Amino acid sequence: MTVRVGQAGLGNWGKNLARNFAELADLTWLCDADPAKRELAARYPQARWTDGFDEMLADPELEAVVIATPVPTHYSLAKQALGAGKHVFVEKPPAMRASEMEELVTLAEEHGLVLMPGHLLLYHPGVATVKELVDSGELGEIRYIYGNRQNLGVIRTNENALWSLGVHDLSVILHLVDEEPETVWAHGTSFLTPGVEDVVFCYLRFSSGKVAHMHLSWLDPHKMRRMTVVGSRKMVVFDDMELERKVTIYDKGEEPPGETYGEWRTRTGDIFSPKISNDEPLRLECTHFLELVRERSDGREAREGLVVVRALEHLQASLVAVPV
Ligand SMILES: NC(=O)c1ccc[n+]([C@@H]2O[C@H](COP(=O)([O-])OP(=O)(O)OC[C@H]3O[C@@H](n4cnc5c(N)ncnc54)[C@H](O)[C@@H]3O)[C@@H](O)[C@H]2O)c1
Repeated sequence: MTVRVGQAGLGNWGKNLARNFAELADLTWLCDADPAKRELAARYPQARWTDGFDEMLADPELEAVVIATPVPTHYSLAKQALGAGKHVFVEKPPAMRASEMEELVTLAEEHGLVLMPGHLLLYHPGVATVKELVDSGELGEIRYIYGNRQNLGVIRTNENALWSLGVHDLSVILHLVDEEPETVWAHGTSFLTPGVEDVVFCYLRFSSGKVAHMHLSWLDPHKMRRMTVVGSRKMVVFDDMELERKVTIYDKGEEPPGETYGEWRTRTGDIFSPKISNDEPLRLECTHFLELVRERSDGREAREGLVVVRALEHLQASLVAVPV
């Protein structure tokens, strides 16, 4: 059964979503507030064009809505779409406040609709491998996780590095740990645009004792897209800049204190890179959304999205509370 999909937002990222949904679903509507985007929409003659979101929602045949508009519009557009009885895929983050996201999650549950945030990295085969390693216990007990997301540019002026870059790593860390942080803390500095932090350092602590750290920046000499997970038995690195060795497992870890001297020792073993499929994460993400629409979701994706928005909100509060 092909799902009838309508998409709002045909900007830089929306183009990629439209390409995928045109191939995987019945793309029946394209909508953008900017009439100039009509030209791009013409690539998909099967889809009706509108610059009015309401007009698209009024189509009773439309089953699902994809929202790829700027972040401040996500909550109200998603709320309207759910209210109109449509399943919703909404780009990250789906809302800027936890209370708004809670409202969306409740609305979706009450109406039996799918609400899926666009946490792209969760569909990366490399991240899926890391999740399997964590869940299978192969790494031992997870001690800590840290993410590096640094580059020189793109310099944003309407959202800081936490909201622009951090949402990706945060979604992965929370997915791996499967716990809500009990303490969060963020420091950042606005070097270029007043009030917009270009460099942000975040710290999260979980009740299990695990901790996580994120270094986010668009003012950095390195282009890094890396996540390191340190377990008691093994350690693993997911590096999205690597072409072949996206995931590297280090058979390295701590050794219990020896009986004679009572000191901690370390152990160094093999280093191994499993094969990671080249499947496009965006393709897998769109496919997953359509599967949820067809088979009905248990709401896991929406609840994970709520945990991410809540953590973002707390990190942002900590960021502005700290004088720089
Ligand atoms: N998952 C990822 O890796 C990833 C990457 C880039 C962007 N994004 C997300 O995608 C979203 C869009 O980002 P972008 O870079 O494409 O932005 P963009 O500014 O290039 O495009 C946004 C488009 O939305 C349109 N729009 C604005 N308000 C609208 C409304 N009310 N109804 C219909 N159309 C409206 C604009 O005219 C514009 O064409 C953002 O939420 C961003 O966070 C995700």
